[in-house]
Amino acid sequence: MREDQLLINRLKTYASGPFYPFHMPGHKRLVCLETEKNAGMEAMDFPNPFLMDITEIEGFDNLHHAQGILRRSMEWAANIYGSRKTWYLINGSTCGILAAVCGCTRPGGRILMSRNCHKSAYHAAYLNQLDISYVYPQRIPGLGIQGGILPEDVEKALKGQRDIQAVLIVSPTYDGVVSDVEKIAETVHRAGIPLIVDEAHGAHFHFGAIFPDSALDCGADVVIQSVHKTLPSLTQTSLLHAKFGKNGEEFCRKIERYLALFQSSSPSYVLMASIENAIYVMDALKKGEKILGGSCTVEAYGRRLEDLRRSLSSMKNLRLASRDLTGSCGIKDLDPSKIVISTRETALSGEDLMERLRERWNLELEMCGADYVTAITTVFDSPEGLKRLREGLMGEDERLGDKEPGTHREDGRLWETPLAVLPIRRAMDSPADAVPLRESLGRISAEFVYLYPPGIPILAPGERIEEGLLSVIEDYMEKRLPIQGPEDENLQRIRVVRDGV
Ligand SMILES: Cc1ncc(COP(=O)(O)O)c(C=O)c1O
Repeated sequence: MREDQLLINRLKTYASGPFYPFHMPGHKRLVCLETEKNAGMEAMDFPNPFLMDITEIEGFDNLHHAQGILRRSMEWAANIYGSRKTWYLINGSTCGILAAVCGCTRPGGRILMSRNCHKSAYHAAYLNQLDISYVYPQRIPGLGIQGGILPEDVEKALKGQRDIQAVLIVSPTYDGVVSDVEKIAETVHRAGIPLIVDEAHGAHFHFGAIFPDSALDCGADVVIQSVHKTLPSLTQTSLLHAKFGKNGEEFCRKIERYLALFQSSSPSYVLMASIENAIYVMDALKKGEKILGGSCTVEAYGRRLEDLRRSLSSMKNLRLASRDLTGSCGIKDLDPSKIVISTRETALSGEDLMERLRERWNLELEMCGADYVTAITTVFDSPEGLKRLREGLMGEDERLGDKEPGTHREDGRLWETPLAVLPIRRAMDSPADAVPLRESLGRISAEFVYLYPPGIPILAPGERIEEGLLSVIEDYMEKRLPIQGPEDENLQRIRVVRDGV
């Protein structure tokens, strides 16, 4: 390999390049430190990671048998979040979701899941051989993103299927849509089972009144948060919080047992210290302490965000998903830190807009869908960075002129929800044939198809492949969206369950 092709050199090139990151991780690679000499970041004094790269040597605790400094640290974190127990995760929210689902269900049982769950939730169902029942998110007309989960849909599903052992929903979604967790928790608890909330995108909620309420404060029993997505912590770091009422100890024991299975046996102290540091910094900010030299506060960020959103709401062609959506489409609240821009009323696809922002404005966004883009902002964005985002989006809107006609399809066709006819495990483990994509019509999928990000299956194993879904997949392929999942990476072929299974 040539030296300039080494991963580290590619990373260095990106880091020294002109791009401003509107993607995770939430520390934004301390770009603000570079661009504005934000004195505050010194509070996160993180020296050369090699100097601190140890696991459980003498004097240091073991994450899988925490009795010393890690136990104290996780108890301190639990106290801050108001949970019964909090675990540091060094394998992302992915391992938290796997452990929570396996810990709250029995092998071969049934779980009620929102259909917009991350792939890790489906993998958990596979591991514990669960049957999945679904609740579906609402549609937001004209925006191209999904709404929230209705408590009444959860109630209906629970009344219809008495064998459901746990409920798992995603709130907020990747796009910042928050469901009414409080009402959903009441419903789930009436059925005597636990509610797990994938709050991977809401680790910041606890730390500012400008954000929606955290599921932890709305009655959820287990909440999983990716610290790395929106807080100043290193990639792969997450938290699992358990609250529970009665039977809590038993659930906690099971979850812990599964965490031991799903997490590395050599947890990185660099990662764990980075989790603790992020909570410490955020807690200090919440208390109004001038820990970051006073230049970086949640309130100041809130004001910048408000300015940004006010400007963006005046765009003529591109449309900002605004907090006005609250109260409709199952939306209890919308996370203002996520800047979600719909291209639906223009001739641009999400990919087109993302490319233009990259090439003309040196802005790297988190993701795009067929007809929207998402920028992740955090408390650690510099005023200069947010200004550049405003200029980029408003500049692109201006270039579109007056109301370029949209060419996008009706909402309904983009929201095909395939019917599950086989449990996920049976579909994945049965004999399968790889058939040309078009010939899969009417067959049962043996593999996942999803866009990554966000990693929500468009098609999951065990679901029947219908015409509407095929044309959605073909449309995504045409738009060069990042389709993943199938063994055949080009998706010329897809694996389907062999007839007669
Ligand atoms: C909704 C949701 N849940 C869970 C995850 C997994 O999180 P992690 O990357 O921390 O493992 C993701 C990742 O993007 C996600 O979007």
